[in-house]
Amino acid sequence: MIGKIYRKFKYKLLARRLIKEHAYDRLEFEDRDVLERLILPNILADFNPKKVLDVGREDYQMWYNEFFKGRELWTVDIDPKRSEFGAVNHITDDIANIGKYFRNNYFDFILINGVLGWGLNSHSFIEKTFTSLYQIMKPGGILILGWNDLDDLTPVKINKIKALKSFEKYFFKPLQASQFRCIGEGRHTYGFFRKAKK
Ligand SMILES: C[S@@+](CC[C@H](N)C(=O)[O-])C[C@H]1O[C@@H](n2cnc3c(N)ncnc32)[C@H](O)[C@@H]1O
Repeated sequence: MIGKIYRKFKYKLLARRLIKEHAYDRLEFEDRDVLERLILPNILADFNPKKVLDVGREDYQMWYNEFFKGRELWTVDIDPKRSEFGAVNHITDDIANIGKYFRNNYFDFILINGVLGWGLNSHSFIEKTFTSLYQIMKPGGILILGWNDLDDLTPVKINKIKALKSFEKYFFKPLQASQFRCIGEGRHTYGFFRKAKK
């Protein structure tokens, strides 16, 4: 309990500092604000994840590595040019192949933001991806899926992805929801999922 309270302060302050140093002025509740100010610090504080997988990396995200200092952070991106934006542990491959790299029940926290509809587009690859993410996730682990809830950027409706149904929905208290749509025309939406504890 004390550890959790300490981490709440620690990651709130860390997020504040990192955002000030690296980010442009975000509007409250736009997608980056929600991810950087609310999701990442609270997940780190509440779950203290030891092993983390972050899928898809752009140049504007290199500083996200600092959130995960002291943890085993893996990044993956299909584009070899993006490897420089990843963590020290970086894989260049399609996320649909992630099952080749890790044993079952490995990760405590997986973030897959802005990949569905941005390259991960085929229905069979989407199913393969979430089947593998479920397998490599530890029981009790958290998966956060971020997508643009727009027809041209949602190749498969989220509730039609069969493999996602293996997860249970997770109620994320800071947003009082298990699915949250951010402000803005991109209709960026975060869905919170958990692999049930055994
Ligand atoms: C719009 S960017 C989003 C990046 C980031 N996750 C974020 O939060 O902004 C999409 C990234 O996903 C990568 N990507 C697209 N399809 C992928 C796939 N099938 N497997 C792995 N990475 C993929 C792209 O190369 C790109 O770096």
